[in-house]
Amino acid sequence: MAYTYGFYEESAAYVRARWPHEAEIGLVLGSGCGPLADSITHRVEIPYEDIPNFLRSTVSTHAGKLILGTLGGKKVACMSGRFHSYEGYDFEQLAAPVRLFRLLGCRCVVLTNAAGGVNLHYRPGDVMILSDHIKLMGHSPLRGPNVEEFGPRFFDVSKMYTPELRRIARECAPGSGLTVHEGVYFFMPGPQFETPAEIRAIRALGGDAVGMSTVTEALTAAHCGMPCLAFSVITNMAAGILEQPLSDEEVNQVGHKIAGAFSAYLGKVVERL
Ligand code: HPA
Repeated sequence: MAYTYGFYEESAAYVRARWPHEAEIGLVLGSGCGPLADSITHRVEIPYEDIPNFLRSTVSTHAGKLILGTLGGKKVACMSGRFHSYEGYDFEQLAAPVRLFRLLGCRCVVLTNAAGGVNLHYRPGDVMILSDHIKLMGHSPLRGPNVEEFGPRFFDVSKMYTPELRRIARECAPGSGLTVHEGVYFFMPGPQFETPAEIRAIRALGGDAVGMSTVTEALTAAHCGMPCLAFSVITNMAAGILEQPLSDEEVNQVGHKIAGAFSAYLGKVVERL
C-alpha cells in the first residue's frame, strides 16, 4: 500500500463533504474516555468503516466513529475509539488519524488514554499530563517513504508534548477535583499487560505510567509540526504493585468513574487552546 498524500486526501475529502467546516482541534479518546465524546454539540458522526482508506476499530469498548462538532467553543474532530498496534495494524497505518486531522485543518491534537500507574505516588483515578514518552519497541509510524507534504524525513521530537499546552493543562487542574501529575508515558505493545519485572524495569528507565497507545499519534503530530497535548487516566496500578491481577474490567470501571470530572477538565482545557 502506497501511503501518499493523495491516499490521505481521499479520506479527508469524504469527511469534508459531510461536515463543511474547518476543524481546529483533533481529539483522540482512549478507553474509558468514550463518555467525553457525549459533550460534543452540533455533531456529525461518521463510522470509521465509511471513510475511504481509513482503519477499522476492533476493540469492543471503543465506539469506532469520527465525531465532528463543537467542544469548549472550538470546532473539533474527535476519534471516539482509536487504533492500536496490538489489533494487528502496522505502525505505519497508525499515522492515518492524525494525518486526517491535519488535512481537516486541525492546528493541534489532544490525546487521551488509559494507563497503568508505575510511579508509586500515583493512584487509580489520577490524571497524568504527558511530559514525554519512551518507546523502545515497534516501528515508527513514519517508517517508509516520507510524505514530504506532511513533514521532513528526519524531525525533532524533543518538545513533542508542547510545553505551552502543558502549562495550560496544569493551570486548569485546580478545582477540577482531579489529582493531576505530569510525567513520562512508557509505551508497551500489549495486548498482554506487563509483567512485574517489566514494570520494575520501566520504573528504573524513567516511566511514570505505562500504556499501549498514544505514541504513534504524538509522533505523527510532531512530524507534521502540530502541537500536541496528551493525558493518561491512571486506571490501575501497574503489574506487581498490588496483589490483585490486572483486568480490562478494572481499567474500564475506573475510567468510567472519573469520566465526568475528566471530561469537564478536558472541556476547560480545550476552551483555552
Ligand atoms: N498497562 C498497559 N496498558 C494499560 C494499563 C496497564 O497497566 N492500564 C491501562 N492501560
